[in-house]
Amino acid sequence: MSLWGGRFQGTSDADAWKLNASIDFDQRLAKQDVTGSIAWAQQLHEIGILNMVEYKDIHSGLTHILNEFENLTFQYQPVDEDIHSAVERRLYEIIGATAGKLHTGRSRNDQVSTDFRLWLLEAIPGLINAIRQFQMQLVKRAEQDIDLVMPSYTHLQRAQPVLLSHWWLSFFWPLERDIQRLFFTLQECGSMPLGSGAAAGTSFPIIRNELASQLGFTGISQNSLDAVSDRDFAAQFLFDAALCGVHLSKLSEQVVLFSTAEFGFFALDDAFSTGSSLMPQKKNPDVFELTRGKAGNLLGLLTGLMTTLKGLPSTYDKDLQEDKQAVFQAFDILMAVLPVLTKAVASLSVFPEKLRAAIDPSVFATDLADLLVKAGIPFREAHTLVGNAVKISLESGRGIHQLTLTEWQNLIPGIDLDFSTVFSPEVSISTKTVVGGTAPQAVLEQISTARRCLQELK
Ligand code: ARG
Repeated sequence: MSLWGGRFQGTSDADAWKLNASIDFDQRLAKQDVTGSIAWAQQLHEIGILNMVEYKDIHSGLTHILNEFENLTFQYQPVDEDIHSAVERRLYEIIGATAGKLHTGRSRNDQVSTDFRLWLLEAIPGLINAIRQFQMQLVKRAEQDIDLVMPSYTHLQRAQPVLLSHWWLSFFWPLERDIQRLFFTLQECGSMPLGSGAAAGTSFPIIRNELASQLGFTGISQNSLDAVSDRDFAAQFLFDAALCGVHLSKLSEQVVLFSTAEFGFFALDDAFSTGSSLMPQKKNPDVFELTRGKAGNLLGLLTGLMTTLKGLPSTYDKDLQEDKQAVFQAFDILMAVLPVLTKAVASLSVFPEKLRAAIDPSVFATDLADLLVKAGIPFREAHTLVGNAVKISLESGRGIHQLTLTEWQNLIPGIDLDFSTVFSPEVSISTKTVVGGTAPQAVLEQISTARRCLQELK
């Protein structure tokens, strides 16, 4: 049984049918499709399209189908073009001709967008939770590693000493922003298109607001032409996912780098590494590499949908059917990556002495300039003077900490400071007490703020 055979002669080309069908992937909307139909049937009853007996029949038929979906006993048939036609076909089998009244005033165009939004309304909180678990792990690492010092990097060149905790938390906040974005996407999904029909609205006096609250939407769309083609919510979700992927990738890249023999800051746990089929000594950071790699796929999914949307004439076009695979895939990628990454980060071993050893004296250059500023020298001048000192130390094959007071005095006549106090990571770090700085006190504050974020917006 097809939903649209009336004007057609003959049958579809088998390959064209396959290309057209979306059942392979939109089965994921099964529950939402039935729930939407149950609410729709109730509206049809309220406005007199379905009498009590018909409504009850449809209601019990749909409930039966919902059970079949839940128990995985629903049998798909080759005629099922998409999830909407599958449900209607099954309803016919169960209750007979009355099933034909369900689609009154409705189109698959408003139906599919309604189902899809309902799906995301359910799925996004699960994703937020998975991100939260990972953030929780980052906070735990920050608490655990609070005493460890390391160099920060700019341009991948050693910059200034920081706490390892501060470094861990630098990956917490991007994820926090990802969550805020997902909440906004949830709001977008909360607008119900049902009642828009195929393009123009419906001629049956459905009370759309009532329908919306019954289905758990927070509002209704205001223009039927827009409503059946609006996929902003899907594009937004893909953007949220892609950016989250980029954030996870950035962390992963650094773990990969820091786990090399050259850095030696971290060691990967065996449970989250793999070996080489050829080189017996290898232990590879696959989890982190795959996370980095999948960020590329996530970006591709976003770009794909955006490109599809770009040239579309209003309103519904079949191109829009491509939206679902992209969203499902993006969701699945993050849901697969996040829990593993959470455990992999928890299992990383840290080598404090390697982290500390990477803090060579040159990373205190800014602290030296700050010391000169505190002695009344303008920062620009102090910057140049310390730059000169760096040059002298390089030319003489020494570290900047080895310059003598006389050498400093040659550079800055009359200066009399104890430069040796500067060359301690702990001292350098302890001066960065500003909110968001790396001083232990500031990082502890940061941890409490992060923990509050985890408490709120659960
Ligand atoms: N399977 C379709 C989709 O996912 C449902 C809507 C079909 N609408 C239509 N007019 N053919 O977009």
